[in-house]
Amino acid sequence: MLSRRDFLRSAGGITLLALNPLDDGLFAAPAPAAGPRLPLFTVVPYIQPGPRSRLQAGDESMVVAWQTLEGAADFTVDFGSSERYGRSAPCARAPRASGRGGDGEPRLNWTAAIDGLPLAQQIFYRVRGNGATLAEGYFTTRQPRGRPIRFVSFGDNSYGDLSDRAIAFHTYQQHPDFVMNCGDNVYESGTDDEYQRYFFPVYNADVAGERLGAPLLRSVPFYTVIANHDVQGKDERGNEIADFGRNPDALAYYTAMHLPLNGPEAPGFPTPMMGPAGRIDRFRACAGARFPRMANYSFDYGDAHFLCLDSNRYIDPNGAALRTWIAGDLTATDATWKFVVFHHPPFNVGDEHYTVQHMRVLSPLFEAHGVDLVLSGHEHNYQRPRPIRFKPSGAGKSADVGGKDRRVPGEFTVDRAFDGQSNTRPDGILYIVTGAGGKHLYDAGFTDTPSRWTHADDGDVEYVAKMVTDRHSLSVFDVDGARLTMTQIDEAGREIDRIVVTKTSKRISSAAARGE
Ligand SMILES: [Fe+2]
Repeated sequence: MLSRRDFLRSAGGITLLALNPLDDGLFAAPAPAAGPRLPLFTVVPYIQPGPRSRLQAGDESMVVAWQTLEGAADFTVDFGSSERYGRSAPCARAPRASGRGGDGEPRLNWTAAIDGLPLAQQIFYRVRGNGATLAEGYFTTRQPRGRPIRFVSFGDNSYGDLSDRAIAFHTYQQHPDFVMNCGDNVYESGTDDEYQRYFFPVYNADVAGERLGAPLLRSVPFYTVIANHDVQGKDERGNEIADFGRNPDALAYYTAMHLPLNGPEAPGFPTPMMGPAGRIDRFRACAGARFPRMANYSFDYGDAHFLCLDSNRYIDPNGAALRTWIAGDLTATDATWKFVVFHHPPFNVGDEHYTVQHMRVLSPLFEAHGVDLVLSGHEHNYQRPRPIRFKPSGAGKSADVGGKDRRVPGEFTVDRAFDGQSNTRPDGILYIVTGAGGKHLYDAGFTDTPSRWTHADDGDVEYVAKMVTDRHSLSVFDVDGARLTMTQIDEAGREIDRIVVTKTSKRISSAAARGE
C-alpha cells in the first residue's frame, strides 16, 4: 500500500506531512501513544526568508513557521545539510486574536528562526511535535553574486478562486528560487483568517495541480509587499486604516510573513491603525520588530537587488525621510540589476486605478540610481510599458494622502526602439504591471485594442507595448549576468510575452547610479 509520504512525493509534494486535513482548514496530528495531544493546526509548516537583507556568507537566515489553535505543545525544528539534520532551532510562540470569518478561536503563531547558514546551500528541516515527526522538507539559501537566478512575480491573488490555484501551479512548474509578490496576496482584508482559508492552502497545498495549487511555501521563499487589501478598514474620512475593532486578526502581513528587517524603524508614514488599544497591543506583541519595519525593506539575490516599498494611499512619496532612505538603499548596493517593487503602478492605462499615480514622483529618483525594472500589481491584468523616463511637472496630487485621485502630470520620454528582441538595451525604466495573479480581471476588451492603451491626461502618449487582460498570468524572470529574460505565462501555462534585456557590464548600472 502506498504510504502518505510516497503518495505526496510521487504527486509532486516535497514535505511529509503527518498532519491530516479536517474540515474548515484545520489539520490534526496523530494521537500520541501517551501524553497530551497537539492542538489542531490552522496553517501547516511553511518557510519565510527571515530578517537578512545583504548577502553575507555564513549569515543566511530562514524562518520555519506554522499556526495552531491554542494549546500546549512541545515543538522542535531540526535542520542541517543532510537528512541527518544535526542542529536544532528554538521554537517561539505568539498569540493572535480570533477573527470574524473562521472558527472564532484564537491562534498561536509558531516560529523557528534558523540562522548562521551558508549561501547557496540546500538545507533539510524537520518539524516535530511532542516527539513525533510532523513535517520534513528542504529549502535552498540565497545565491551569491555571479550565479544565475530565476524568480516568479505576480500580484492580486488568493480569494479562493481556481485561478489562484492555476497561477500557484504554474509558478511551481517554473521551479523558481523564490517568489516576489506585488501585493494584495490575500483578499479581502488581510486577516489571519483569510490567510488560513485563501492563501496557505493554495501556495502550500500538499499536491501540485492546476486546480489544486502547489507545495511552494514549504520550500520556496515568498517575498511580498504590503498593499491596500492588507489594510482594510476606513476611518471617519474614508481613508485606509487597519480596523482592529472590526477585525481583531488584522494586519497578518506583519505576523504571518517574515521578511527582511532593514527598513526604517520609524517610517514617515506607518500603517495606520484604529480600534481597542488592547487588541492593537496584542498585534504589536506578535509582530515584534516586524512592525513597522517590514513596510519597506530591501534584499539581494544573486546579481539582483530588490527594493520593496509600501505604496498605500496613506503614503506621501514626497516625504524627505522616505526619499532619503530609498536613495541610500539604491546607492549602497553594487548589484548588476535593480528592481523596485510596490503595489500601485505609476504607469497604467487601465480604467480601474488609472488615477492612483502618486508613486510617479519617485521616477526621477529611480532613474538617477539606475533602477532597471519596477514591478507592481493593483490593476488586475498584465501591462508591459516601453522603457520610460518621466519628469513630473511638480507634485501634482501625489501628496493628497488618502485620495484616489493622485494624478501626477509630467513629461514622458519613451524609448520606442526597444523591443526586447532585436534591441535589448532599454533607455528608461520598464514599469511592469503583473496584477493578474488570480483575482477577477480588469479592463476586459483591452487585450488586442492598442487604441485604448492611452490617456488624454498623459497626452495620449503610447507608452504601453503589450497589454493582456483576458487571462490570469505570472512573470518569470531569469537573471544571468548581464542578461535578463522576462517571460509572461498564462494560467494554462502558455507563453504570452517575452523580452530580453541586456547591459554591457555591471559598470553600466554603477555609472547610471552616479548620474553619468
Ligand atoms: Fe490592490
